Amino acid sequence: MNALEVKNLRKCFGSFEVLKDLSLTVKRGGRHALIGPNGAGKTTLFNLITGWDKPTSGDIVVEGAPKHARPDELARHGVARSFQKNALFENVTVLENLRVAAQALHPSRTAMFSSTASHKDVLARAAEAGRMMRLDDVFHRKVKELSYGQKRQLEVAIALCSKPRILLMDEPAAGTSPTERAQLISLLQSLPRELTMVLVDHDMDVVFAVCDIVTVLSYGKVLATGTPDEIKKDPLVVEAYLGHGHA
Ligand SMILES: Nc1ncnc2c1ncn2[C@@H]1O[C@H](COP(=O)(O)OP(=O)(O)OP(=O)(O)O)[C@@H](O)[C@H]1O
Ligand SMILES: [Mg+2]
Repeated sequence: MNALEVKNLRKCFGSFEVLKDLSLTVKRGGRHALIGPNGAGKTTLFNLITGWDKPTSGDIVVEGAPKHARPDELARHGVARSFQKNALFENVTVLENLRVAAQALHPSRTAMFSSTASHKDVLARAAEAGRMMRLDDVFHRKVKELSYGQKRQLEVAIALCSKPRILLMDEPAAGTSPTERAQLISLLQSLPRELTMVLVDHDMDVVFAVCDIVTVLSYGKVLATGTPDEIKKDPLVVEAYLGHGHA
């Protein structure tokens, strides 16, 4: 069963065709990496899958969600995303950041007077997401006091607040130190197996440690899809992207 199907997707910005007849399938429970050089179209693809932008043509089918849904509708159907550049609330606590994210998608979000029960439910969700990314020790710290690595963990935790079935992560490890990256890898590996993950990252240690299938994009097209071992050996991929260090 597939969690995500992208069929013959095209995206043009004016006369610039960023995605060209791109097709991609992500299995339910799969841990699927999307790699490719700067400008290959990875973030653009995420924007289309999550409803932030519209395709020029082609189809995107996310399991259980209506076609052409808005980001908030997709979120309610189990699609979450972490951003390449996120805006955390630096002057409030970690738990408050998580609580706001959990509240945004809770059924009581529009109620004028939310009940104590729903408030508890929101807090429980926020805390669970925070624990999954090992932030429980810093729940009451302000975000500005966190290390860079903890901020990246918080960005993933915020996406987890909606209890997603599919989690798309855009460069979660960007800018991390080797120690922070190792921590992030082990946390991503420990997320529930039934959670489908689509991960964009330039760091091959992260990609190969976390994902069991890798799609390589180049100039808006799929260059190759395969297991990490297949991808490392693919001459086209080595030539276009990996260089010889990973072969
Ligand atoms: N709104 C836009 N208008 C015009 N061009 C855009 C727009 N968004 C993206 N592009 C262009 O589309 C191409 C793909 O961009 P995208 O951000 O998807 O690449 P990426 O694979 O995520 O790259 P990176 O690895 O650097 O994050 C780039 O050439 C970019 O300049
Ligand atoms: Mg990008």
